[in-house]
Amino acid sequence: MSNTRLITFALITAASVTLAACSPDTSSTSPINVSAVQTVVPSERFFTADQFTYANYQEVVVKHAALNLDVNFDRKVLDGDVTLRFERLNPDAQTLTLDTKDLLIKAVALETNDGWVPADYTLAAADPVLGSAMNIAIGTDANQLRITYETSPTAEGLQWLTPAQTAGKEKPYLFSQAQAINARTMLPVQDTPAVRMTYDASLRVPDGLLPLMSASQDGQDADGNWTFSMPQPIPSYLIAIAVGDIKFKAINDTIGVYAEDYILDASAEEFAETPMMEAANTALYGPYRWGRYDLIVLPPSFPFGGMENPRLSFMTPTLIAGDKSLTNVVAHELAHSWSGNLVTNASWRDAWLNEGFTSYVENRVMEALYGEDRAVMEQALGLEDLKRDVADADRPSLTQLKFTDDLTHPDEAFSQVTYVKGQFFLNFLEDRFGRAAFDPFLKSYFNAYAFDSITTEDFLGFMDANLRAQNPDAVTDAEIQEWVYGQGIPATIRIPQSDAFDKVAAASARWSGGDMTAAELPTQEWSTHEWLHFLNGLPDLTQEQYKALDDAFSLTGTQNAETAFAWYMQAIKGGYAPAMPALEEFLMTVGRGKFIYRLYGALNDNGLAEMANRVFVKAKPGYHPIAQRIISDILAG
Ligand code: BES
Ligand code: ZN
Repeated sequence: MSNTRLITFALITAASVTLAACSPDTSSTSPINVSAVQTVVPSERFFTADQFTYANYQEVVVKHAALNLDVNFDRKVLDGDVTLRFERLNPDAQTLTLDTKDLLIKAVALETNDGWVPADYTLAAADPVLGSAMNIAIGTDANQLRITYETSPTAEGLQWLTPAQTAGKEKPYLFSQAQAINARTMLPVQDTPAVRMTYDASLRVPDGLLPLMSASQDGQDADGNWTFSMPQPIPSYLIAIAVGDIKFKAINDTIGVYAEDYILDASAEEFAETPMMEAANTALYGPYRWGRYDLIVLPPSFPFGGMENPRLSFMTPTLIAGDKSLTNVVAHELAHSWSGNLVTNASWRDAWLNEGFTSYVENRVMEALYGEDRAVMEQALGLEDLKRDVADADRPSLTQLKFTDDLTHPDEAFSQVTYVKGQFFLNFLEDRFGRAAFDPFLKSYFNAYAFDSITTEDFLGFMDANLRAQNPDAVTDAEIQEWVYGQGIPATIRIPQSDAFDKVAAASARWSGGDMTAAELPTQEWSTHEWLHFLNGLPDLTQEQYKALDDAFSLTGTQNAETAFAWYMQAIKGGYAPAMPALEEFLMTVGRGKFIYRLYGALNDNGLAEMANRVFVKAKPGYHPIAQRIISDILAG
């Protein structure tokens, strides 16, 4: 529990808790009683220092950012200014410290009683991970300043695609990725999830391009500026922009898809069940509080499966499989509208509060929509990944839910430990307390901390008061401590039992043992999930066995990206050369980190480093800056 501090030990009882009363945006919510039982919100709050920010956010906090930017594709920069409104928590504070990285600062002005005047500031020497602290003299009275700046063409949070790198080939494309600490490459900002602010923006883009942000899309003003507003306070990592030859297709009145033309219809079809996901989420955890929910399908270099930018999730085109088999990623990003965007981790050491909760909610929604079998299969696949990441962890402390040791980069906070161990901790609690108690408890948690940023210890305190107090024998302190601060996989983990997967494993054993041919495998009945379980679980095979599978099922070059990835991992492990040209093509066209980091790593570790380096040199210009950095590190050993 280093880095944490207990403030007091008093409890207060929240008065009547209605959702509308707690929501800054009441347009889409009506007063609903969260639960008949009163929620006890502990008055003591715990603190975990964010090691990845220079911001002095305990002294001065930025409350609102107003962006005014030219999107300049010729120079690959955002160029303009940002006006920041701030409040002093310490009335004597005379400095505001912001995070910046690779920004060109041109001028800083402070709004005083005499109008806007130039402000003194310094930029500290750059740290390779954190960037440069920007210290601005704010005097004693001002509460607003304006920074004129431009971004760098190599900003890690922005990918600028040439027309040739898009599907349409005619117009350029820009998209951002601020999580975890790249908002500071887009604007000077208090780049910590502990700080929430509202924002608005006015953008100028070349004719024929559509800009979108993680905000309400307010249209063009009389001067042709594209305007945006985010009235709910959000952390900096949720500021997002995309600009391109982007079209829109509605799914229903409040949900739709943006994409390049070539994939628009297919995306709307693939994601057609998003409204049902929102309804399932709402039924479990209360209203969706962000107004619209749209998805944008980005170019293939987008380095993630999805990113939960508020009102506008960013999605990889590798989800468009044609059979809705990969839509758990939609359930996941949508679930962040509760776990993460509404209640946010105060530091990346607490990332499981975002990603573990979201993986749990995602799986509950998948169960509600598609049944227990699919949900359990997805749990089982997750557990396989968790075991691998625990075994491969660079340091034992990286297998804790709460990272009590320093991280070297926030990327370290996003292994399957954070996602799946976090999810299974909540599964454990659900099993012990029962859904009848656990579901309303989680709903009241999202309500109690709505639009706040909290630590693991805040969650534990809230759980003590609202779940454990009512049923003190359900779990022990030692069990909770082991889950949250212990390393590895706790003995009390729920083991997902999937009959379907048991059948796949039995068939796999019969085939690999020579008791049946590949063509006799009962694959007609297999979903993508069963294929993944089969492929991930393959024993060491002979070249003839690889070929027999490939001949029977055309796995090399298969269009489902998850299946292709699982097959190529096996092909690399077994040195199955016929798959290599298609693997190379995959690495040239797909930039999703979940796939390509492990493929490059496996090539490197299985005597194919020459191929890995050769393909990376070719593919690198098309990869996102984040992917370029991570793969360079992987190949450097
Ligand atoms: N917020 C993450 C993506 C992310 C994590 C971006 C860390 C930057 C730093 C997003 O919600 C996510 O978890 N995406 C997953 C999908 C999922 C179903 C586990 C992904 O990209 O694969
Ligand atoms: Zn997530």
